[in-house]
Order: sequence, then C-alpha cells, then structure tokens
Amino acid sequence: MDTILSVKNLNKVYADGFQALKNINLEIRKGEIFALLGPNGAGKTTLISAICGLVNPTDGQILVNGHDINENFRQTRTLIGLVPQELCVETFEPVWDTVNFSRGLFGLAPNREYVEDILKKLTLWDKRKSRILTLSGGMKRRVMIAKALSHEPQLLFLDEPTAGVDVELRKDMWNQVKELKNMGVTIILTTHYIDEAEQMADRIGVINKGEIIVTENKKDLMHQFGRKKLTLDLNVVIKVVPKQLDQWDLNLNEEGSQMSYSYDASVEDNGISQLLADLASAGISYKDIQTKQSSLEEIFIQLVNQS
Ligand SMILES: Nc1ncnc2c1ncn2[C@@H]1O[C@H](COP(=O)(O)OP(=O)(O)OP(=O)(O)O)[C@@H](O)[C@H]1O
Ligand SMILES: [Mg+2]
Repeated sequence: MDTILSVKNLNKVYADGFQALKNINLEIRKGEIFALLGPNGAGKTTLISAICGLVNPTDGQILVNGHDINENFRQTRTLIGLVPQELCVETFEPVWDTVNFSRGLFGLAPNREYVEDILKKLTLWDKRKSRILTLSGGMKRRVMIAKALSHEPQLLFLDEPTAGVDVELRKDMWNQVKELKNMGVTIILTTHYIDEAEQMADRIGVINKGEIIVTENKKDLMHQFGRKKLTLDLNVVIKVVPKQLDQWDLNLNEEGSQMSYSYDASVEDNGISQLLADLASAGISYKDIQTKQSSLEEIFIQLVNQS
C-alpha cells in the first residue's frame, strides 16, 4: 500500500530541555484513518505540530508523499490540512468568507462548488452567512474542519475533533470523518474518547511519554492484547470460591452471586471446558453464562501502565 506520511527517528526537545518526542517512527498509508491515543502530555499535539511545520523537530525526518517537509515546505504543506486542538476562530467574518479565504491563502483558484460541497457535508450550509462568533462550539469546530479542507488536502489532522462536543454531534462528526475518508482523504486524529477510535480507526497508535509504544490494526490490537472474561451467574450465593477450584484464579463478586474467569481468547486451549467440568464436580451450578471481550479502553490502560 502507498505511504502518504513517513516519520523517521523524530526527536523534539523543547527550549526548556523537556524531551516531548523520543525517536518517533511512523508510517501512514494512503486512505486510512489512524487514531493516535495517549494520555495528556504524551506528545500527540507536538507530533502533529512537527508534521505540519509548526514545531521544529530537534532531529529526524518527515516525508509527505515522499517529499521532505524541510526541503519542500510549500509543496508538502499544501497536501496537509490541520484542525488544531485549540480553536482560533473568534472572528466577525461569516462562515462562507472565512472558508473561501483559507483556500485563497494556499494560492488556489476560487471554487464555489467545492466549498459549497464541504459546507453541505459538514452541515454548515444553513450557517454560511452567519458570523463565526455567533456559532456554537460544535459548529465552530466544524468551521475549522471546513477551513482545513478548503485547499483540498490529501492528509487531514484532527487534534481532538470532538473535545467538548455533545454525544449526538460526536456521532455526526464520526460520520463526517468517514465521509472524508470516502472522498479519499487520509485522516490522523487524536482523541481521549477510546470508543471514538474503536468506531472510526483502521489503525491505532498509542503514544506515552513521547514514545510510540504500539501501532497496530485495530482488530489485531484487540485480538492480541484483549482478554476475554467469562462470567457465571450462580444459582446460589456463595461466600468463598471452593478450595478445589484454586488453580483457576476465579473472581467472586462482592455479593457472591457471580464468578468470573479471565482467559486468553487467542489460544487453542483456553481451559473453559475443563473449568466447567471442575465447577460441576465442585457442586457449583449457574443459571447463566456470559463472555465479554476486553474493550480498547482496557487494552489502552494496560499498555500505558506497562510502558
Ligand atoms: N512550547 C513548549 N515548551 C515546553 N514544553 C512543551 C511545549 N509544548 C508542549 N510541551 C510539553 O510537551 C509535552 C507534550 O505536550 P503535547 O501538547 O504534545 O501533549 P498531548 O499529547 O497533545 O496532550 P493533550 O492530550 O493534553 O493534548 C507536555 O509535557 C508539554 O508540557
Ligand atoms: Mg494535545
């Protein structure tokens, strides 16, 4: 598959001596949605800013479509759209003018149809004549997206696109991001909402303390690091797990009404049939069984704690 972005051995030490990025290596494929997850201060915004030419890396190399961003700054910058984490759209200008102006900044000829299309896709068409100051926070964020798309970039960065956006609007935003992907735009987004990454991303990267600790297809990540939990609803409340079941390391809930077993779903012999046989011989009966795959959130916490 074609690579649209490649980051090689990138380091960033800020003026105060703080190292925000440590030897980052990352390849982004054309057309994918890549979610970058990481706790506050992990280095997500620094990495995006370095790629967009807003922060000077200390060393390393960044290639966009095969071109070094230092050697071909203008050329590579026009391929990139950025929706920054901090909104900066407190202006009296109407939506329509602002978005068209942004396009002009990149030296592109006006294209009313294109701008109309993105405003419609972002459900901003009805607000095109409104001054940006009068819009709600979620709408302002969508104006930022329209601005970032105004020059028809191939690679779009969304730094926490749904921070402070309500549940319904978040779902709208997810659909809009998928729509952008269908238009052929490659998307890199950061988020603290892990369900968002789970919903949207093809691939996930986790960054912690300036280091990328994992990049993986979403499905593989969940398969590889995820564990499954089997929960039994017991017929009778018990106080303790019988001694003869010690080897299973079972968890009893506080009420004594549920017992659970955590296992690796990727191995052939996960022990379940033996466990059920052992439960029967220990005289433990149950009325229901559920299994649950661990969520991306649980995996994420586990990865960050390990690193
Ligand atoms: N201009 C700066 N000078 C010194 N340190 C900085 C500067 N900008 C960021 N940092 C530090 O670099 C680290 C990474 O910050 P960054 O903004 O990249 O994190 P982030 O992953 O985007 O966090 P968040 O989820 O809170 O947005 C933080 O410790 C931050 O304090
Ligand atoms: Mg940030």
